[in-house]
Amino acid sequence: AMRNELNDMVAAVKDPIQKRVFDLEMQSFFSLFSRYLSEKAKHQVIDWEKIQPLAPEMVPSYSDLPDTQDTEILKELVVLKLNGGLGTTMGLSGSPKSAIEVRDGMTFLDLSVRQIEHLNEVHKTNVPFILMNSFNTDDETQRIIQKYANHNIQILTFNQSRYPRVGKESLLPIPRSATSDKSQWYPPGHGDIFDAIGNSGLLDKLLEAGKRYMFVSNVDNLGADVDLKILKHLVDSQCEFLAELTDKTKADVKGGTLINYEGTVRLLEIAQVPSEHVEDFKSIRKFKYFNTNSIYIDLVALKRVMDTEGMELDIIINNKIADDGTPVIQLETAMGAAIKHFKNAHGINVPRSRFLPVKACSDLLLITSDLYSLEHGKLVMNPLRMFAQTPVVKLGDTFKKFLATIFLVLTVFAATDRNNGPSSPGLVPVAVFFAMVGITAVMGAQTSFAMNPARDLGPRMMSAIFYG
Ligand code: UTP
Repeated sequence: AMRNELNDMVAAVKDPIQKRVFDLEMQSFFSLFSRYLSEKAKHQVIDWEKIQPLAPEMVPSYSDLPDTQDTEILKELVVLKLNGGLGTTMGLSGSPKSAIEVRDGMTFLDLSVRQIEHLNEVHKTNVPFILMNSFNTDDETQRIIQKYANHNIQILTFNQSRYPRVGKESLLPIPRSATSDKSQWYPPGHGDIFDAIGNSGLLDKLLEAGKRYMFVSNVDNLGADVDLKILKHLVDSQCEFLAELTDKTKADVKGGTLINYEGTVRLLEIAQVPSEHVEDFKSIRKFKYFNTNSIYIDLVALKRVMDTEGMELDIIINNKIADDGTPVIQLETAMGAAIKHFKNAHGINVPRSRFLPVKACSDLLLITSDLYSLEHGKLVMNPLRMFAQTPVVKLGDTFKKFLATIFLVLTVFAATDRNNGPSSPGLVPVAVFFAMVGITAVMGAQTSFAMNPARDLGPRMMSAIFYG
């Protein structure tokens, strides 16, 4: 029944180009869905007894890598940022997370572009910058990157797939046609990168242009800049897939990790762990590292895997409730799971400074603070800080949403005398004012709003003051 419904939807698309893309997406979706049904029937779950931590030689340490000035590899490099997500955990639903202004009026996207421009300037190269967008993030992203049209940087974009949500009971697609409402579709996780880059034709174009290595990371991870030492290691070890891991602390026990499963390197995500072993999975002693989702991939090997065995990835089942109350499932995949398909694949233990994610509003508070300064789009920690770790910021529920955090940031700035350190007494009333405005605004706030606080929050602030 699923097959027929998908065929009908494809048949109804008139435009030949759109039809081709949609057909490819529905084929990939159908094969994921069929695998889901057969694995469900076989009750196929990971066998906990067969899981072993990675041997130390499979995770060399970044600090042991030799210094290098070898820039030859940059000619064969492309950098890709995963930009399909909306940042729902932060209460965002209208714009990409990458459109949040982080510092000096610059968004995550702007800062990533700066990093590449700087790299190209210093090494006199022309590393292209690629964005994988989704149907949720493409419009806003295209708007932001317009301003780089005249810059000396090559920015390429492609869209990831759009899969139909599936009724949990009916096991049929929720959308009735290719043009059904946005809310009935979803971007199927970053594991979709392989299908999407292949289907878009970009993989072939990059190979034709002599590109060999692709560095991929989360768009909100400003610590993931291009590093010559790691690139050299990638080439020297003839590694087709390299994953950056970092030491696990108590704050990141839920992060995925690499394991040795019957002799192969595999990614293990918390969603795959049987409930009785979740505590084991979280153990810092047993699993020392976690996956930062920054990977390096050999594009020639990628093409080989796609053309021969196919890129089968572990299925992550995401249960959701649709707006009308119907339970639905989203079948998703994670990029790191691809490691099992590649030769000489392993991890590298990188310093925490290469992993600066913004998953929650508390992370945003950290990276906007003067704990860091900005150098060519990269956040550099204040050298006066005595510890490598960042402070732990815990925000109450009031500040879960992005809007509230903007006010908190303003409050902290107001309460900080930039020259003499925190809490200049004269500014406390200003801080209290912002805090009150912030909290009041949150109470009436919607989760979808534009990203320029100065421009867009003005009217809201006025109404907050009014209600306050
Ligand atoms: P996460 O899965 O951590 O999600 O994505 P997120 O978008 O940052 O935040 P939540 O979970 O919605 O709150 C890690 C990276 O993968 C990208 C995101 O844009 C982010 O850079 N991503 C995620 C995609 O490109 N496509 C997807 O389908 C999912």
